[in-house]
Amino acid sequence: MADLTLTAKNPTSVKADALVVGTCSTSDGLAVVADQLPQDLVRQIETLAPQLGLTGAPDEVRKLPAGAGVQADVLVLTGLGERQADGTFGAETLRRAAGAALRGLAGTASAVVALPTADEADLAAVAEGALLGAYAFTRYRAGDAAAKAAAVRTIEVATPFARSASARTAVERARVVADAVHGTRDLINTAPNDLYPATFADAAKAAVKELGAKGVKVTVLDEKQLAAGGYGGILAVGQGSSRPPRLVKVAYAPAKPASKVALVGKGITFDTGGISLKPPAGMPAMTSDMSGAAAVLHTVLAAARLGLPVAVTGYLCLAENMPGGNAQRPGDVITMKGGKTVEVTNTDAEGRLVMGDGLVAAVEEGHDVVLDIATLTGAQVVALGNRVSGVLGTDEVRDAVKAAADAVGEQFWPMPMPEELKANLKSKVADMVNSASDRAGGMLFAAVFLREFVGSTPWAHLDIAGPAYNEKGAFGYTPTGGTGVGVRTMLGFLEAAAAR
Ligand code: BES
Ligand code: MN
Ligand code: ZN
Repeated sequence: MADLTLTAKNPTSVKADALVVGTCSTSDGLAVVADQLPQDLVRQIETLAPQLGLTGAPDEVRKLPAGAGVQADVLVLTGLGERQADGTFGAETLRRAAGAALRGLAGTASAVVALPTADEADLAAVAEGALLGAYAFTRYRAGDAAAKAAAVRTIEVATPFARSASARTAVERARVVADAVHGTRDLINTAPNDLYPATFADAAKAAVKELGAKGVKVTVLDEKQLAAGGYGGILAVGQGSSRPPRLVKVAYAPAKPASKVALVGKGITFDTGGISLKPPAGMPAMTSDMSGAAAVLHTVLAAARLGLPVAVTGYLCLAENMPGGNAQRPGDVITMKGGKTVEVTNTDAEGRLVMGDGLVAAVEEGHDVVLDIATLTGAQVVALGNRVSGVLGTDEVRDAVKAAADAVGEQFWPMPMPEELKANLKSKVADMVNSASDRAGGMLFAAVFLREFVGSTPWAHLDIAGPAYNEKGAFGYTPTGGTGVGVRTMLGFLEAAAAR
């Protein structure tokens, strides 16, 4: 990850390849938001903005020659949009503007960032956004292509708070958060021939060592241990693949924890749909069907690195959903962990099968609250689109997740679990079906199914099907490919739980 430091120096006097400043939209057109820039340079940019096609809108990033009076070679303008009523821009706007600028600087070595920070929360957002934007996945690129795509290596953030102790703490948190989000993105972006259940489990062990997450214990259940433990859902989904499934438990247990939280993640390393095969068009994106498990792993590691006084156990439900000769069939009846039976009416509704087992395992071990996170339904994308995730569950936990998401700048929206959908669980032969004949309300039905495995533990389900993987253009601090969505919300939820 990029190396990020704070500086109290005038940013124009800092030697770097690029200087990043903000622009905003006003009734008089574009305004440059940087007191320290040479006055004539500011006047030139503001006067020529219409001819340069610049408005100061969010995600508008433009590189210009910096000229005399600025030590950096290149000046980067990044749009902040309109000021809020109180004259500031807000944390998420700053986070995105910093991220968009650093993303635009791929292939450049160093940058100094001089965005307006009204307080230390703004500074934290700028630092976090810059690090989140300075991301590149170059594992499968050679030579020149890798160098061109490489993220900025050195970032200096110019701020009046450079010497404050709490600013330093905020920057340390930003580093941990960015490591977690980057680690999540890396796993998602790893091709499915390289990342399958066994290698995902190895990656979990390696990440604990690499990130120096002290006090974290990783336990891996292989297919034999899964059979002994009664994990019928994970085994059924994994049986069509030559690569057997795994359950990885990642436990962080501080002394005298304020509460005990379980995080359960869907880790389908590739989802072909199984015998209920998916059509070709949407299939390549199913390399991202393990985004929930990746987010869980890195959230637990981040909680440990921050030393949160909350016990957090992650359950990564890992399987590859393939239509091999031993694959489960539509019509199979399976016995889930805990003993409930499921008639598998559609093998493409596999996520809820692995998650049901994971939820039972979490609940058996006794937690104050359980969150689960999954790229669970296409219906989530239909209902909320590619940038807003759904959250369902026990009213209080669901609302706490929504509040945590709002605070960290991730978009989640609460969805209901209407009582009438319970009837759609009915099977002619088993306790329930995994896929209802009625497609309406698919995201809600999936949550109603999961609820069957949660018992009375307070719980929320995060459906990140759309937002987990960005198949469109990059924006703000969000790259194409794996986004890492959910990590910041779950970490924020844990921090709030620690404070309660
Ligand atoms: N992994 C998919 C859901 C998904 C769809 C994630 C699009 C990301 C983007 C999941 O396993 C799935 O196939 N769900 C089915 C369920 C249906 C068969 C009840 C779906 O949503 O179509
Ligand atoms: Mn599926
Ligand atoms: Zn799936």
